[in-house]
Amino acid sequence: MRRRACRPGRDCRKVSIGIPNRSASASIRGAQEFSNLIAKASILMTVPYKPCPTLRQALVEAEESLVAGPHPARARRDAETLLLLALRRAAPETNRAWLIAHADERLAPGMEAIFSAFMARRKAGEPVQYIAGETEFYGLSFHVNRDVLIPRPETELLVEAAIDRTRKLRSSRAAQPPRIVDVGTGSGAIAVALAHALPFAEIAAIDLSTAALAVAEANARRNGVAGRIRFFAGDLLAPVAGERFDLVVSNPPYVAERDRATLDAEVRNFEPGQALFAGEDGLGVYRRLLPAVFHALAAGGALLLEIGHGQQQALAELLALQGFAAIEFLPDLQGIARVALARRPESQPGKLPRA
Ligand SMILES: C[S@@+](CC[C@H](N)C(=O)[O-])C[C@H]1O[C@@H](n2cnc3c(N)ncnc32)[C@H](O)[C@@H]1O
Repeated sequence: MRRRACRPGRDCRKVSIGIPNRSASASIRGAQEFSNLIAKASILMTVPYKPCPTLRQALVEAEESLVAGPHPARARRDAETLLLLALRRAAPETNRAWLIAHADERLAPGMEAIFSAFMARRKAGEPVQYIAGETEFYGLSFHVNRDVLIPRPETELLVEAAIDRTRKLRSSRAAQPPRIVDVGTGSGAIAVALAHALPFAEIAAIDLSTAALAVAEANARRNGVAGRIRFFAGDLLAPVAGERFDLVVSNPPYVAERDRATLDAEVRNFEPGQALFAGEDGLGVYRRLLPAVFHALAAGGALLLEIGHGQQQALAELLALQGFAAIEFLPDLQGIARVALARRPESQPGKLPRA
């Protein structure tokens, strides 16, 4: 028998229905006898309402349903994150330890409905971070929605390298604050993390998407650095034309159009295409960005660029062609070159951007 979903005030209730048996119904003479028979009926059918699950049961069921999806390895963690998210609607301080300690308590009916809605979105492939509306990056909390790329852990490598460079610059040139610009700021992850770690730096952040910029500005407020970052809408470095920077940082779109079909459906269907794709070979934005960066950098200034898997050789060539020096690559934890570092030489005049 299909059990009915638990409902506020009705969960765990049993309803009894009297049904007369065949031989008894033969002796029915009138309405009075019939109601007497019902009262004495011997066959009782019980229609149970489904009791609300315990937190443990809810987790196990949710995990099982996600294991069948495209990311079975993350099923448990995702289920737990979404359950905590639902519980926090009522008690914001709820955490994993509380969940473990109260695993045998029943989920309140209202909470079960919220959890089910989150699970339905997850089963449709939506990333947990969009469902939660937030994520963590470089130890800070960021609001995210479908207007922005979800910041990735590998981008923290770029942030770390940028902090390191800026601190060195600061110690060699204390009088002038280091000037940094983040091109393609998206959620503001890089710019906000840098502003947070480098209170002495002047930071600008640019994005083509005004919707993304609204998220970035909200994240600057969320992390207490709103007054420290200048935000601009526009193409690459055009909004700050004429300014000179000590550091240009960027995690631009770098996925090849030809790889669109093989991209994880979660990424392809939910994250903004403008944040992902860069022409047929994935190098389209780099080709336009490098000349612009060269001209925006002060002599001796540095570029830190996130690159895609397998793009090291192409980037080394593009950077050298543009006149950058001291080109090096930093590997991520898997040993894959993830960040390109290059310097505008002190004396060499910048080459003109190619048409
Ligand atoms: C890969 S996302 C990076 C977002 C964020 N910096 C991060 O690391 O999580 C690239 C961002 O570049 C922006 N973008 C794409 N083309 C651009 C352009 N021509 N000028 C400025 N921003 C651009 C996109 O809107 C997107 O927000």
